This record gives sequence, structure tokens and C-alpha cells, in this order.
Amino acid sequence: MKKIAIIYGSTTGNTETVAKSIAEKLSSEDVQLIEASNLKVEDVETFPNLILGTSTWGLGDLQDDWETALPILKKCDLSGKTIAFFGLGDSGSYSDTFVDAMGTLYEAIKNTGCTFVGKTSVKDYQFDASKAVVDDCFVGVALDEDSESNLTNNRLEQWIANILPHLQ
Ligand SMILES: Cc1cc2nc3c(=O)[nH]c(=O)nc-3n(C[C@H](O)[C@H](O)[C@H](O)COP(=O)(O)O)c2cc1C
Repeated sequence: MKKIAIIYGSTTGNTETVAKSIAEKLSSEDVQLIEASNLKVEDVETFPNLILGTSTWGLGDLQDDWETALPILKKCDLSGKTIAFFGLGDSGSYSDTFVDAMGTLYEAIKNTGCTFVGKTSVKDYQFDASKAVVDDCFVGVALDEDSESNLTNNRLEQWIANILPHLQ
């Protein structure tokens, strides 16, 4: 079984619901759900695979709990880890900052020697700008519970099928 931590920050519960859904879909693996507000260095050290989830608030801001969790993550040796992202946002009301926070997480750890998996195509989304887009792809899976919640389950299933073979 693969040891996977799903670390998430959620203000109104959407990211938490998605985190639980990912855990359910990965239930044949050894999965632990960790709220970003409770993150400890030992958690990061224990798991070779990290799935990091955040919603975006303000105009392109990280979800609050990540303000303390991200420095903890950055303190850790991430080399050798496999990391995937999921980001929640609202492409209808926040089309210029859509899922920016996922891009902020990526930027913060992109040079730490870890391996990133699970980037996705932007082609089925409508938005104007996103910090989570690098080389024409989202750095993880972008989810929109406000405007496109009917697409979330399929997006997650495809993304999980994509990342699972690459997890350690
Ligand atoms: C005040 C406010 C600001 C928001 N800002 C953004 C934003 O800049 N970009 C974005 O994609 N979504 C934005 N959103 C949408 C949230 O990210 C979205 O509702 C998300 O599902 C919330 O997840 P959570 O309940 O896990 O925090 C905003 C929502 C609110 C209410």
C-alpha cells in the first residue's frame, strides 16, 4: 500500500469535502487526512506522497490555514517526495485569480527537489488568468464547486487515475 497524506486547508468546507472524496477514492491505499491547521513536521516526514489542497480567498490569496502550514512544509526536506495538488476556486466570480492559491503552493516548493505529478489541461475551463497555470497546464486539478460542481467527480476520477501509478 502506498502511504499518502492529504493535507488541506478549507474555510467553508468545500476543500474538506473534496479531500474526503479523494481519500475515499484512494481507499485501497494507506491514506491520512490532515487539516493544514494541524500540520506537523513529523506528518510530512512520515509520508512519501503528499496531496496538497487549498481553496483561494480574497483576490488570489492562499486559504488562511496554509499561512502557517506552508512555512512548516518548507522547513521539511521534500527531496524524494512525490507531490500533487488540488485547488478549489470560482471561475465565474474570480476569473482573473482562478485557483491562484494552488499556484502559490507550487511556487513555494517548486525548487525543493520533490517530484510533481498530476498537472492537468486548461482546455475544459473558462477563466481569464490563474497563477496555477504553468506551461499551459494547471499544476494540479482545478475544481469549481461554485460554478461547475457537476464536473468535480469526473475531474477527480480522471486525475486520480493519472496520479496513482506515479505515487511511491
Ligand atoms: C470572499 C471570497 C473570495 C474568493 N476569492 C477567490 C479567488 O480569488 N479565486 C478563486 O478562484 N476563488 C475564489 N473564491 C471562491 C472559493 O475559493 C470557493 O468558494 C471554494 O470552494 C471555497 O473552498 P473552502 O470552503 O474549502 O474554503 C472566493 C470566495 C469568496 C467567498
